[in-house]
Amino acid sequence: MKSLLILISGRGSNVEAIIRACQTEQWPARIATVISNRADAAGLEIARRAGLRTEVLDHRAFPDRAAFDAALAEKIDAHAPDLVVLAGFLRVLTDGFVEHYAGRLINIHPSLLPAFPGLRTHRQALEAGVKVHGATVHFVTPTLDHGPIIAQAAVPVLPGDTEESLAARVLEQEHKIFPQALRWFLEDRLEVDGHLVRLRPEGAQAARAGKAVNA
Ligand code: GAR
Repeated sequence: MKSLLILISGRGSNVEAIIRACQTEQWPARIATVISNRADAAGLEIARRAGLRTEVLDHRAFPDRAAFDAALAEKIDAHAPDLVVLAGFLRVLTDGFVEHYAGRLINIHPSLLPAFPGLRTHRQALEAGVKVHGATVHFVTPTLDHGPIIAQAAVPVLPGDTEESLAARVLEQEHKIFPQALRWFLEDRLEVDGHLVRLRPEGAQAARAGKAVNA
């Protein structure tokens, strides 16, 4: 059985959606631990209530980004996860950290990348006057908010939208595409070819799994 490890910083609605999908859909995976860089992250309580292990590593206790990332990698590697998930982990990661987890580090970003990388994505969308906005699940590469795209969901931008109303509409979609994308990864259905991610058909993946079992 594969294992995933989730990094968070705050509210934890995505971690909640992932936990629920993992349990109700009986994924071929277990959640090793949920790590937050903030002790007061509400998502920690959500994870604890679901019976998961949680850990805190406060970035303020480290002199610089590299020192924090090194300590975080040590904590993560103690669990030897197959997949590391950034579920609202609001830290810019060093290149070394990202390269260490190349191909097994997945993030969700609240915009239709490559539009609106960085912060305040809903405000950026409103200011740009776009008619469609959304969310993206992608593999993490050293360039911030880039990396091969696994899944996206679009929502309309409606007249009178505020940052809050738009964020809520996008978040509803995040809770669908994020667990779906993680499940595809855990089922070995994602094939990365340069910047392109292909989804293997379910049947093909089942045949591969069958071969592996019989090998
Ligand atoms: C989500 O909207 C996620 O897309 C965003 O943080 C929020 C976390 O919410 N992530 C980023 O902005 C990463 N650049 P949650 O704690 O309720 O899951």
